[in-house]
Amino acid sequence: MQLTKMAKKTRSYRKMMCLPASPPAPALRTWLRLGLFVLLCLGIGQALEKKVVKSKVGEKVSLPCCHEIPISESLHKYRVYWQKNITDVVLAYSEGNMISKHKRYQNRTEMDPWNLTLWISPMEILDNGSYQCVVQRNSVVVCDESVILFVTADFSKPNITAEVSADSCESTEMVIMCSSHGGFPKPRISGALNNMSVEWNATWASESSLSPYNVTGKLVLNVTKDVNITCSIEYNGFAKSTSLLLKKTNDCFVPPVPPPYNVITASIIIVITFILAITLAARYLPRHVCSHCCKGQNSVEEGVKDSMKAPLSDKGTAETSSV
Ligand SMILES: *[C@@H]1O[C@H](CO)[C@@H](O)[C@H](O)[C@H]1NC(C)=O
Ligand SMILES: *[C@@H]1O[C@H](CO)[C@@H](O)[C@H](O)[C@H]1NC(C)=O
Ligand SMILES: *[C@@H]1O[C@H](CO)[C@@H](O)[C@H](O)[C@H]1NC(C)=O
Ligand SMILES: *[C@@H]1O[C@H](CO)[C@@H](O)[C@H](O)[C@H]1NC(C)=O
Ligand SMILES: *[C@@H]1O[C@H](CO)[C@@H](O)[C@H](O)[C@H]1NC(C)=O
Ligand SMILES: *[C@@H]1O[C@H](CO)[C@@H](O)[C@H](O)[C@H]1NC(C)=O
Ligand SMILES: *[C@@H]1O[C@H](CO)[C@@H](O)[C@H](O)[C@H]1NC(C)=O
Ligand SMILES: *[C@@H]1O[C@H](CO)[C@@H](O)[C@H](O)[C@H]1NC(C)=O
Ligand SMILES: *[C@@H]1O[C@H](CO)[C@@H](O)[C@H](O)[C@H]1NC(C)=O
Ligand SMILES: *[C@@H]1O[C@H](CO)[C@@H](O)[C@H](O)[C@H]1NC(C)=O
Repeated sequence: MQLTKMAKKTRSYRKMMCLPASPPAPALRTWLRLGLFVLLCLGIGQALEKKVVKSKVGEKVSLPCCHEIPISESLHKYRVYWQKNITDVVLAYSEGNMISKHKRYQNRTEMDPWNLTLWISPMEILDNGSYQCVVQRNSVVVCDESVILFVTADFSKPNITAEVSADSCESTEMVIMCSSHGGFPKPRISGALNNMSVEWNATWASESSLSPYNVTGKLVLNVTKDVNITCSIEYNGFAKSTSLLLKKTNDCFVPPVPPPYNVITASIIIVITFILAITLAARYLPRHVCSHCCKGQNSVEEGVKDSMKAPLSDKGTAETSSV
């Protein structure tokens, strides 16, 4: 707790230096000193341009500090504070000894004794946040700099499922679900239908704002032809996506308008007509042919006689005609 206070004090000290409270005396020395202050403040101003580190849960991350101890010196001359979110001391060194260690970071941190880089491994979601490295030499602040650590946990590959809810010849209504789990931070879910973007109706589940997220997207679609649907999960600049080809199930190539009994009736009529035609042909055609080829010039008279006989006895005419 005392350490925290000290670090805070040093911060306020720096701020006072940057804001000259009284108007400067018109002496050359004061002007020079003010010039030095301006340079110092500019330097700090640049340092305040925050560094950003992105890392994944379970990995080893290194957070750079703002000072490198020259080879002629050693950590013994310094006090080094690694703090999180201003108030929590993650790790602190004084005269070369570790003087404070945060419970949550126990056995997970290391500090390089020369460039003062802080190593955290394995990384946890709760480690997300802003870290400050404060270096003091003989109770004078050498530097004070922040590093923002963005913690990411990978989402599972999105799983797309499609269920047909209504089917007709024109379209197939489908309920499409896309889900992914176990990632961090809260993701964005986006979709595409062939090349057109679509909005998923998304729901997120998480135990707290610093716990892994599950995400589910729902979409109801009328599919009129085969389409390719894509679901993408985006988080901290990373993305995972899955595509699925949605097939229109009921194509209705044969229109069901003519009921089957009509077809059967029509076929029966056609078949009967055909059979009748053949029977009639079989009865009359051969006689005409024979009368032409066998009887020669008398064929017309014979033909007329035969045709008159025909209705009286079918078999007789058939026998005479075939002879
Ligand atoms: C600090 O030193 C370590 C080796 O001890 C090196 O891996 C790391 O890159 C250095 N970091 C910076 C910021 O120079
Ligand atoms: C930082 O600390 C302040 C107050 O101590 C708290 O309100 C805030 O939520 C903390 N921020 C993070 C990211 O932990
Ligand atoms: C840290 O490591 C020490 C020794 O290896 C062990 O006794 C201790 O239980 C560890 N602490 C945590 C919080 O893992
Ligand atoms: C992680 O920490 C950064 C820096 O404090 C903050 O901007 C960001 O919102 C945090 N992310 C989450 C998910 O809390
Ligand atoms: C996708 O989700 C379905 C339904 O919840 C499940 O049966 C299937 O195993 C999942 N597939 C994968 C790869 O997780
Ligand atoms: C989809 O878009 C990509 C580029 O955005 C383009 O190359 C491709 O031809 C498009 N496909 C269709 C089917 O429009
Ligand atoms: C999204 O889903 C919720 C619950 O399932 C529903 O109340 C809401 O109307 C849906 N929104 C859209 C745009 O479909
Ligand atoms: C997220 O999904 C996983 C696996 O599907 C499940 O075990 C876990 O309970 C879910 N978490 C939440 C917060 O719903
Ligand atoms: C799909 O089309 C059917 C009729 O063709 C209609 O009743 C239904 O509301 C449509 N669903 C969507 C999601 O557009
Ligand atoms: C669907 O689209 C994605 C991206 O547009 C493409 O990578 C994938 O190969 C397509 N899949 C099918 C089955 O067409």
